[in-house]
Amino acid sequence: MHLGTSLTHLTSVDSTNNYAAKLIKEGVVSSGAVIMADVQTAGKGQRGSIWDAKPGENLLLSVVLRHVNMSVNEQFVLNQLTALAIKDLLGKFGISSSVKWPNDVFVGEEKIAGILIESSISGNLIKDVIIGIGLNVNQTEFSGMRATSMLHQLKENFTVRAVLDELLIHLNYWWSKLVDNGKDEIHQAYLNHLLGFNQWRTFLTGNRSIEGRIDGVDEWGRLMLTSNDQKYVFDLKEITYCW
Ligand code: BTN
Repeated sequence: MHLGTSLTHLTSVDSTNNYAAKLIKEGVVSSGAVIMADVQTAGKGQRGSIWDAKPGENLLLSVVLRHVNMSVNEQFVLNQLTALAIKDLLGKFGISSSVKWPNDVFVGEEKIAGILIESSISGNLIKDVIIGIGLNVNQTEFSGMRATSMLHQLKENFTVRAVLDELLIHLNYWWSKLVDNGKDEIHQAYLNHLLGFNQWRTFLTGNRSIEGRIDGVDEWGRLMLTSNDQKYVFDLKEITYCW
């Protein structure tokens, strides 16, 4: 299966992830379909946040995977391969980036892309998956947020469609690795590009700040830390980085 077999380009939509979910529900979309939009009126971010992107300036898309039948335990590999694909795409354009746990892509201390993966689960299996990606391409103002874009980095305008084509090349590369039993390779590549891996950093958990070293990420995507000579595992909602 090839990601990007069909492309639906919408001028405006509430959220490409919602649109993809609707198509899945209606049974009118096949695996590998890509839905992109110039504008989202209710773009969704992680943890119930809003993904705010200026009209026409960014890459906003969802990739549909149908009947995946992967174990729910393995779901995080999808986040990993998506983050790696974005990182590679940026590298192709000469932008060096890293992955900030769990699946943000950062240039230095500024976010350039976010990923929101939504899936339907039946028993222990993941059925349909929507990989939502927001990549800042030509946006220059981020209303006080610590964010950047390709234009911001390279002082050059990009055609969003050309960026999409490049992204699909890298998504297909990492997707085929997964299909070829390359889960471990994906995991290793993710760790190689993980911001702060094996380094001591300050983290915020609840209202407590702790010093910790990132030892890795387990298969559920939980962050493994050493702090005060003890090992900890944190879920996605339990901990944030302090720079
Ligand atoms: C994050 O919070 O970092 C995740 C952002 C994901 C945004 C993308 S934009 C395309 C897709 N549709 C959405 O509503 N969200 C994702």
